[in-house]
Amino acid sequence: MAEPDPAARAAELRTLLHHHAHRYYVLDAPEIPDAEYDRLLTELQALEAAFPELLTPDSPTQRVVGQVLPGFAPVRHAVPMLSIRTETDTTPAGAYKFDASVRKAAQLTGDVPPVAYNAELKFDGLAINLRYVQGVLAQAATRGDGETGEDVTQNIRTINQIPLRLQGAAPEVLEVRGEVYMRRDDFERLNERQRETGQKTYINPRNTAAGAVRQLDPAITAKRPLSFFAYGLGEIRGWDQPSTHSATLDALAKLGIPVCADRAVVLGADGLIDFHAAMGAKRDALPFDIDGVVYKVNDVALQERLGFLTHQPRWAVAHKYPAQEQVTRLNAIDIQVGRTGKLTPVAKLEPVFVGGTTVSNATLHNVFELRRKGVRVGDTVIVRRAGDVIPEVVGRVGSGARAPYVPNFRMPPACPVCGSTVLRERGGIDHRCSGGLFCAAQRKQALLHFAGRRAMDIEGLGDKLVDQLGDGGLIRTLPELYTLATDERRARLSALERMADKSAARLLAGLEKSKTTTLARFLYALGIRHVGETTAKDLARHFGNIHRLMAASVEQLLEVNDVGPVVAQSIRTFFEQPHNVEVVEQLRAAGITWPEHDGDAPDKGPQPLAGKTLVLTGTLPTLTRDEAKALVEAAGGKVAGSVSKKTSYVVAGDEAGSKLDKARELGVTVLDETGLRGLLDGGS
Ligand code: IVH
Repeated sequence: MAEPDPAARAAELRTLLHHHAHRYYVLDAPEIPDAEYDRLLTELQALEAAFPELLTPDSPTQRVVGQVLPGFAPVRHAVPMLSIRTETDTTPAGAYKFDASVRKAAQLTGDVPPVAYNAELKFDGLAINLRYVQGVLAQAATRGDGETGEDVTQNIRTINQIPLRLQGAAPEVLEVRGEVYMRRDDFERLNERQRETGQKTYINPRNTAAGAVRQLDPAITAKRPLSFFAYGLGEIRGWDQPSTHSATLDALAKLGIPVCADRAVVLGADGLIDFHAAMGAKRDALPFDIDGVVYKVNDVALQERLGFLTHQPRWAVAHKYPAQEQVTRLNAIDIQVGRTGKLTPVAKLEPVFVGGTTVSNATLHNVFELRRKGVRVGDTVIVRRAGDVIPEVVGRVGSGARAPYVPNFRMPPACPVCGSTVLRERGGIDHRCSGGLFCAAQRKQALLHFAGRRAMDIEGLGDKLVDQLGDGGLIRTLPELYTLATDERRARLSALERMADKSAARLLAGLEKSKTTTLARFLYALGIRHVGETTAKDLARHFGNIHRLMAASVEQLLEVNDVGPVVAQSIRTFFEQPHNVEVVEQLRAAGITWPEHDGDAPDKGPQPLAGKTLVLTGTLPTLTRDEAKALVEAAGGKVAGSVSKKTSYVVAGDEAGSKLDKARELGVTVLDETGLRGLLDGGS
């Protein structure tokens, strides 16, 4: 292949860079990751350096990119807002280079002691100049092109962290420069909300923060959780600036301005390298994104001596870390089944080094998100891995040029792990496996829930043991829990690593004890989606035995107190899975029992007592109190504990007491067991 013509390549790069700068700065809708933009810019810089005749006045390398948006009033900066040189060599060599350049420029010879630097974080957001006049926030402006920015005062005022009035002394003019950014947790929450409401998600905290500040409607800015850190000064009048940068930051903090605590005064290149390494190790744990650290000569007088190199100070540099966003190819989309049964589409990527590790899987969250992003297998996509957040595909490279989105991926109708039906609730976003008890992906979660105090209350079965049982292969299905007592398994149980005989014995005793339970507890323990304790109790009361419940139609389920369509469907689907039914039968075969009755409401039978309230008193000749109650309830009637004017009938047996007197007093009809049976048969 022929070498590309440098002139043609330079022209191509200029067009590309102009396009992406516009997308980024004006539209706040970047199409490529920053690292890719930087790569293109560096390539153009290199070309122009090698072939100076290719340099044009409008080259993106010739200006600080940034444009004043129509809609914001322009603000001319009293002191230009400069940028700093970026050291892209992420190794210690980058720090040595900077220290060497400072020493050379300041003409410090070999035996002069190391230079003191203030090392701080490079926040990833939008640079803002806050102008305080007599201690009051008078104006806030973006950097724009460095000379002229945009007046975003109204928007900045919505950021609670930024004081509207300085604490203590009020200098005549104090311009504080810093970065508006968004914390990672705030960003995740915001995206979670967007996802839940079916709205588009944001790409990364930086773009979101920048976009929020440059919203024309401050009400929208106010809804975005933004934060701020100061890192420098602009114009100052009537304020004694401390003699070092670190003391200046301390002074700003005293005035009530947020200043990041992760900073240090260090000595020489070695000190810089230590800081770079320490923050690199801490980077993932920080609550916000950084893409590097910044080194500044600490002594203000020395800063002044060093001065500027056209647009950048000689006394400061940004030292980068590996990028948190990269482009790579989307090779396939797999399905992962989570502990709770949620199906997540996972991008299988051409492995790429991002955020400090090699990433080959990234989440696509759900099928709606996937569609919104319009990514397809075969696309070149942007992957992001920041902090301990799971890597995600944030979008695809390339503009909207592609015609209507045609998905080449669908959610599977059956769980890839256990084959159970996959269900998406009405109006819901997530697809879920309905094989909760049976599905291997959900086994541990299911076991833990099953054993829980409010469920089967199996003493001695906690987190750690569940892990051991599952990982050790001792339990593959829920009912196998109850076969742990058999000799062979018992031996293996005791052989489990670190499992003392005592805890094995405790578990076996706990299992034995749990076998006698109630239907409500058992139902709750099954972990049917949306069936919490209360619903489980309602279901148990209503159906009385598990077979009626398992056979109940959606319509019949809807008759239960507080059971709506989503819950009813969830129960129905659960029991439609043959594997779930099998597990229930196996558990019962293992000896789990509970008292049963015929249910409050027969699914079809006549309801001769519908709307009637009965009071039972005394001993009936053949029916126990519970049996009589069950019969009344099965016929649609209610059994109350005391007699009132609302009582329809009092059923009295031997040794009936005060309730019988009360019935007579109020003129309520009194029946014996035969009378009751007559009612139940439909007489009146
Ligand atoms: S100092 C003259 N310190 O990175 C020095 N900048 O080009 C001016 N940034 O746009 C910048 N963290 O928005 C400085 N601790 C920090 C910073 C920082 C982030 C941004 C700033 C500027 C760019 C540097």
